Amino acid sequence: MVEDAPDAPEPVAEPHIGLDEAYSLKTPEDNRRLYKKWATSYEAGFVSDNGYIYPLQVAAAFMDRADSAARRVLDVGCGTGLVGVGLAELGGPRPDGLDLSPEMLDEAGRKTDSQGRPIYGDLIVGDLTASLSLPDGAYDGIVSAGTFTHGHVGTGAFDELYRVAADGALFAVGINSDHYEERGFSERFRDDCDSGRISEPEIRRVPIFEAREHVDDRAIVVSFRSTGR
Ligand SMILES: C[S@@+](CC[C@H](N)C(=O)[O-])C[C@H]1O[C@@H](n2cnc3c(N)ncnc32)[C@H](O)[C@@H]1O
Repeated sequence: MVEDAPDAPEPVAEPHIGLDEAYSLKTPEDNRRLYKKWATSYEAGFVSDNGYIYPLQVAAAFMDRADSAARRVLDVGCGTGLVGVGLAELGGPRPDGLDLSPEMLDEAGRKTDSQGRPIYGDLIVGDLTASLSLPDGAYDGIVSAGTFTHGHVGTGAFDELYRVAADGALFAVGINSDHYEERGFSERFRDDCDSGRISEPEIRRVPIFEAREHVDDRAIVVSFRSTGR
């Protein structure tokens, strides 16, 4: 019996990248690989599918405490630049952006405000699990959303973030709410506060998504000032 030739295989679509992939990253290399293929579809897919509002929550937490001295701000793990967009919408400063993924930084570099001005200043390839090639005391503010989410970026990143922060710099940093206790963030900030390194941390539990299936997911945004000590 003659069988029909098998149909040509269906082209395999790029699997839908989303929360599961993002939460399963374990190393900087995993991260580089994922965001290299995700950069151009991150906003049209993940952000819009889930109504991702976390970057706006971080920008709002920062602006609620910022004064006019907060000119030099660093967005760590800036990705495609959504915290910067939030800051611009709230009349805030134009941040520099740092990220492990050059492809995500390229997207951030394309962002402009309503008057066509770039949302970001310098865009810096850097790894928060290593030393940063930035000078001591360079920033009046540090912001971050969605970066202290993956297992590999832990409390150790704050050694370098404190170093690049000026005396009195304002931090507004989003942290996965489970990791906050389990991975030692709470303990680290308590110790840093006790030793006088930072001011008393203020904690906000913020929604991450507007989409119905994730509407109850919360992250912690921790805010404090570096004392420079
Ligand atoms: C979920 S995205 C969040 C991006 C953006 N802040 C937002 O909220 O849309 C996480 C970002 O953190 C960056 N990232 C992860 N690990 C990092 C590391 N070790 N150093 C610097 N950036 C890192 C990723 O490349 C990615 O752009």
